[in-house]
Amino acid sequence: MEQQGPGQRLADPPDQAIPQHREPGPAPDADGDPATNGTAGVATTEVASVSGDGAVAPIGRPDDGPHEARLIALANQKGGVGKTTTAINVAAGLAEMGHRVLLVDFDPQGGCGIGLGLEPEGLERSIYDALLDRDVSAEDVVVPTSFPGLDIIPSNTDLAAAELLLVNEVAREQTLMRTLAPLRLKYDFIFIDCPPSLGLLTVNALTTADGVLIPLECEYYALRGMARLMDSIEKIQERLNPSLHVDGIVATMYDNRTIHGREVYERAREAFGRKVFDTVIRKTIRFAEAPVAGEPILSYASNSVGAQAYRELAKEVMERVTTRQPAGS
Ligand SMILES: Nc1ncnc2c1ncn2[C@@H]1O[C@H](COP(=O)(O)OP(=O)(O)O)[C@@H](O)[C@H]1O
Ligand SMILES: [Mg+2]
Repeated sequence: MEQQGPGQRLADPPDQAIPQHREPGPAPDADGDPATNGTAGVATTEVASVSGDGAVAPIGRPDDGPHEARLIALANQKGGVGKTTTAINVAAGLAEMGHRVLLVDFDPQGGCGIGLGLEPEGLERSIYDALLDRDVSAEDVVVPTSFPGLDIIPSNTDLAAAELLLVNEVAREQTLMRTLAPLRLKYDFIFIDCPPSLGLLTVNALTTADGVLIPLECEYYALRGMARLMDSIEKIQERLNPSLHVDGIVATMYDNRTIHGREVYERAREAFGRKVFDTVIRKTIRFAEAPVAGEPILSYASNSVGAQAYRELAKEVMERVTTRQPAGS
């Protein structure tokens, strides 16, 4: 079904070419980024060290010495839009580039674990224990995967109970932040795969994260849900996490045989400008097959269109994160 060539990036029409990676500068789009309407320099601090000792650098090349991970949450309150698939495969793409990557499954359905060969209900420990048991650290629940450079903190249905228990916690929105803090120096990237809701788990993920990556299904109704999601992100920026940045919107389930897939992409570009990645993820059955094999598509079907697209997307994510570094670093 994948008759197209290797080009996963939708070419911009020549007269509408959207300049990429111009940050920090005024955004021509619906960018809720406080960095673009605040003081100069705010944007550049986002990936810099917050530990204050000067020894910790922002994310850079894989062997740059100690630096803090960039935390990126995958969020969209709609299910089945490609959050988990994108989390697994962008994480794998960055691991393939030589980065140390951790994937935190923050959905009680445990899709990241399943997609990487773990059986959720057979887990001895999961993110639930690290969140709620003072004697269990995040490090205790990290599991290496068979994909080199990629670790996971798995989850299962216990996490649904955690969401209820967290309601009674002090600073309940910051629970995940406290839990993951000790791991920030151990990885270059930490991805958090959110559940399909805007409840307390997603609020925790967005409070913890430096950036949010939004998979947008190429269907007409998908754009409507974006307003609600952007509204939630803005509220979190105002109240809980001023430095949360929309790292990008990725069009998923793109069917190049239909006109409306292309139209949805164009409309997303009109609404969100350069926030929309050039890379689009086409609809292909290989994505349903890969989790059955318990592998990212990058290893399951390494040369497939889908694998190449996620490699391209990982590169774009990397470019966006590194272009946000302080000048000269
Ligand atoms: N680009 C794609 N083309 C076809 N199927 C896909 C694609 N991306 C994901 N899928 C499949 O769609 C279903 C939902 O994807 P998933 O990543 O689990 O979404 P979410 O995490 O948002 O609920 C899964 O069965 C997955 O294998
Ligand atoms: Mg999911």
